Amino acid sequence: MMPDNSWYKELVVYQIWCRSFKDNNGDGNGDLLGVLEKLDYIKSLGANAIWFSPIYPSPNADWGYDISDYKNIHEDFGDLDLFKKIVDEAHKRDMKIIMDLVVNHTSSEHYWFKESRKSKDNPYSDYYIWKDGKNGGPPNNWLSIFEGGAWEYVKERDQYYMHAFAKGQPDLNMDNPKVREEVKDIMRFWLDMGVDGFREDVITFISKDPDFPNGFPIPIACGIEHYNKGPNLMQYLNEFRNDVVKNYDCFLVAESPMTGAKDAVKFTSGKDRVFDMMINFEHMSADCFMTDTVHLPFSLRKFKKALGSWQTKLYGKAWNALYIENHDHPRVISRYGNEKFRTESGKMLATVSYCMSGTPYIYQGQEIGMVNNHLKSLDEFKDVVTFNNEKVFKKIGMPRFIYLKIANKTSRENARTPVQWNSTKNAGFTTGTPWFGVNKNYKEINVETEEKDPNSILNYYRKLFKVRQENKVFIYGKYKEFYKRSKKIYCYEMSYKGQKALIIGSFSKKSMTFEAPKGWNLCNDNLVLNTYPDVNNIVDNKIDLRPYEALVYLKK
Ligand code: GLC
Repeated sequence: MMPDNSWYKELVVYQIWCRSFKDNNGDGNGDLLGVLEKLDYIKSLGANAIWFSPIYPSPNADWGYDISDYKNIHEDFGDLDLFKKIVDEAHKRDMKIIMDLVVNHTSSEHYWFKESRKSKDNPYSDYYIWKDGKNGGPPNNWLSIFEGGAWEYVKERDQYYMHAFAKGQPDLNMDNPKVREEVKDIMRFWLDMGVDGFREDVITFISKDPDFPNGFPIPIACGIEHYNKGPNLMQYLNEFRNDVVKNYDCFLVAESPMTGAKDAVKFTSGKDRVFDMMINFEHMSADCFMTDTVHLPFSLRKFKKALGSWQTKLYGKAWNALYIENHDHPRVISRYGNEKFRTESGKMLATVSYCMSGTPYIYQGQEIGMVNNHLKSLDEFKDVVTFNNEKVFKKIGMPRFIYLKIANKTSRENARTPVQWNSTKNAGFTTGTPWFGVNKNYKEINVETEEKDPNSILNYYRKLFKVRQENKVFIYGKYKEFYKRSKKIYCYEMSYKGQKALIIGSFSKKSMTFEAPKGWNLCNDNLVLNTYPDVNNIVDNKIDLRPYEALVYLKK
């Protein structure tokens, strides 16, 4: 019998991308001592769990998502003893710790791959996906998500290996039972140390179409149809669950690109579920097509439709993961809000996104409303995705200065600038030279300043999570949307055991009149959250909403 892990429903998870969180030893890289120093701060936000993006040894072809040793800690961050201390200290504070489990691929510097590439007959030769070429070229037309084709030729084997992401991230051959045993072994290693679960990186990619057919030839996506949600995916996930997960009181959150609410119901329902929740991408595409790089104007209707679909389809069956930022996307205020109304739109986005059912995830810096970086030169960027896009845009003749504008708007590196702790040099992130540029706005936007301001985004997040934890209607409620067609207003109701809440958010930079939907009599005595320091009067069940204002009413 699986232990009852339903506690995951009442978590608020804080995501740490360690290299940019807090440097303690002055080498310019965030580290685990920095995390230890800030545990109480994280707890003070109302978070009761931490998800660590990969902190394992890695040559950083993809900043940690290319792991070269699964059972150790990157020397830039600390060591296993220090990590164990963090687990203990977190547990003392009633906080959970989850690790990133990246097993679709390893680093090309991992011992397994170094062996595997040597010959066709060594103990690791079948650990990866190796294929013979065809007609003097790669085995098929699949593209990688990060870097050109999905196949790389290796002379020693006279074969190609597959990589869904960067060249330095060869895909593991999960069809090999020995590889699955290795994965289980890694999971046990961390769970035995006391971690409380995993965020499973691109986990729906682990089973590929065994025929390796050509993909539909459209740029960006070619081949993905054959390596996402492959034929043996369920079998492998069940195996991990039955052989490992079932024996621990832990939870799993899957990163699952290109999946919809129906998939979430399939994977996360019932006691035999293979994940406890899934990271949905649909609502993160409200201003782009397929990838952040292909930018479009923000569509509130797209955003609402995606969230509404997951709320409705999963209700009573499965569980949502709620998020609007992580290390893979530009900052949300710069995307869906408005930098000119930073405080207002930051609070509003938090309100409409976290008053619905599911487990909230927030990403470092989100709680103080950090915004996109505006770098002066492409040479300052550090990510494989930016480098690749630069090549692609160059091929189609785009001048570099135009691509710089696109990168500043759409690159995920916007989320990877160091956390701004105070207004001293380097935003108090490091006493050394930061590994990546601190956003120039740190004197205005930083934790210390926001701590002192009762109307800051930071203090609003604290209040929001408190109200959420105190009123189960937000965590477990049933979602009903109003004014679905509106391009400026997001308005929904949550109801649970006699409690009803009305959530209202304006996505407009202009004031407008909002009329309460049927069944609601607005009364400021019922107001539990408001994002401006004062509150407008209600006249005839109507209220003037100011730019990006959000309000939450609760009837008990
Ligand atoms: C996931 C990670 C992303 C990484 C990719 C390859 O999408 O979140 O950062 O680059 O997987 O591991």
